Amino acid sequence: MKDGYIDFANSAMGAKLVNALGLPKPLPLERHKAGAPVLSGPALIGASEGAALLEPIAKVLAAIKAQSYAHERAVQWVGVANAAGLTTGRWGGEKVKALVFDATGLSDSTQSDALYWFFHDAARSVLPCGRIVVLGRPPEQQTSSRKATVQRSLEGLTRSLGKELRKGINAQLVYVAEGAEDQVESTLRFLLSPRSAYVSGQVIRIGKPIGASQAPADWNLPLSGKKVLVTGASRGIGASIAEVVARDGAQVIVLDVPQAQAGLDEVAKKIGGKALALDIGAPDAPQKLVDAAKADGGWDAIIHNAGITRDKTIANMKEHLWQMVVNVNLSTQERINDAMVESGALKSGGRIVCVSSISGIAGNMGQTNYAVSKAGVVGMVQSTAPALAAKGITINAVAPGFIETAMTAAIPFAIREAGRRMNSMSQGGQPVDVAEAIAWFAGPASGGLTGNVIRVCGQSLLGA
Ligand SMILES: NC(=O)c1ccc[n+]([C@@H]2O[C@H](COP(=O)([O-])OP(=O)(O)OC[C@H]3O[C@@H](n4cnc5c(N)ncnc54)[C@H](O)[C@@H]3O)[C@@H](O)[C@H]2O)c1
Repeated sequence: MKDGYIDFANSAMGAKLVNALGLPKPLPLERHKAGAPVLSGPALIGASEGAALLEPIAKVLAAIKAQSYAHERAVQWVGVANAAGLTTGRWGGEKVKALVFDATGLSDSTQSDALYWFFHDAARSVLPCGRIVVLGRPPEQQTSSRKATVQRSLEGLTRSLGKELRKGINAQLVYVAEGAEDQVESTLRFLLSPRSAYVSGQVIRIGKPIGASQAPADWNLPLSGKKVLVTGASRGIGASIAEVVARDGAQVIVLDVPQAQAGLDEVAKKIGGKALALDIGAPDAPQKLVDAAKADGGWDAIIHNAGITRDKTIANMKEHLWQMVVNVNLSTQERINDAMVESGALKSGGRIVCVSSISGIAGNMGQTNYAVSKAGVVGMVQSTAPALAAKGITINAVAPGFIETAMTAAIPFAIREAGRRMNSMSQGGQPVDVAEAIAWFAGPASGGLTGNVIRVCGQSLLGA
């Protein structure tokens, strides 16, 4: 559904009114365009003393042919960047598209003024739809409590920057474990690019690679040669996921209930994929999927997108509505994962990506059943990640906020407007925003990512 307020707020007359009344002013977000550079302007680099990630950052910026500047307190960047063959120079206040700060060296809260100087100097120089990425070390893995403390404090910084800078600028924190320094590329490419348009205020954890984690031969086709199952793919977010993973080179198996066959066939035709009409809630669905995958030579990724709502307050809810939602949104996915992994139908090096919801994080009136199922998805991701890692498989989830789909178009006007504006982007996300985050997790170079739950919600105030 089109959000007419964005056009109005950015028209000459609308902008005056919006400013005078102090109303939210959403900017049209930049989104990925085929052939466009990953980063459409220079990056300004800052670093604490003892920063450990400058070389991997320089390698990625060189690979995406970015231009960079060194902040006056990070002059060591010039040497590192030159060695990586990256165009760089000292920063003199030029406008930049991204701020990247390597905070891995911070070991005590008394050193946090390094953050102040960098972001204080640079905050006004970030172009619209710019990107802020702060890199640190996972607090829970630090042996010094002082270091753990200052690393944990980075979360307050990035979450506040996301709320403060506005203009479509987002801010994320990436914790990189010791020994995982060479795993940052897929994440930096995602976060620095317009693919992460509606992701903000998130904390991402990168660990040592699980099974295979290899840069693709062509970053424009990272899923080339991969077979990917997308459930609930006849419309909405699922159809968009199918399109994006197909765009990224995957052979896609699109699945939906038999009643949705027409839409499913249309999506399959559009992307050159295979349609599979199946109710995943049926008891024999896991075995049918195992058989289909084995007949196809095994699958590389499963995207659990299919989901339903049956909203009622708990006092008014019938038991079967509770059971139905928990079954389709959660128990079914557990059964499918078990069957696909145990049988080897999901290949080693495989990827599982689940779709949760901010309702599962924040709770929502009239959605106890749905919130239980979606919070359960978070639990499933976190609790199964270690055992899956032993089999070389990663599992992550995205938790969408307000996404412009048929589901949200049906919400009454006032509640819909509130849902759209109550986030740092002052607008709803597009299905493609969820799809891009899923494609990042599903990529072959994302083997360092498992157990993550990333919200695609424009930094919604709900559950923040
Ligand atoms: N739209 C949003 O704002 C939003 C927000 C948070 C989370 N989500 C989640 O994103 C996912 C997609 O949402 P959407 O808005 O595109 O919803 P949608 O209703 O448009 O699409 C869901 C698809 O899943 C399919 N499906 C349902 N039950 C199935 C079953 N038993 N077997 C096979 N397929 C089944 C449906 O037929 C449908 O095509 C869902 O998991 C939803 O909970 C959506």
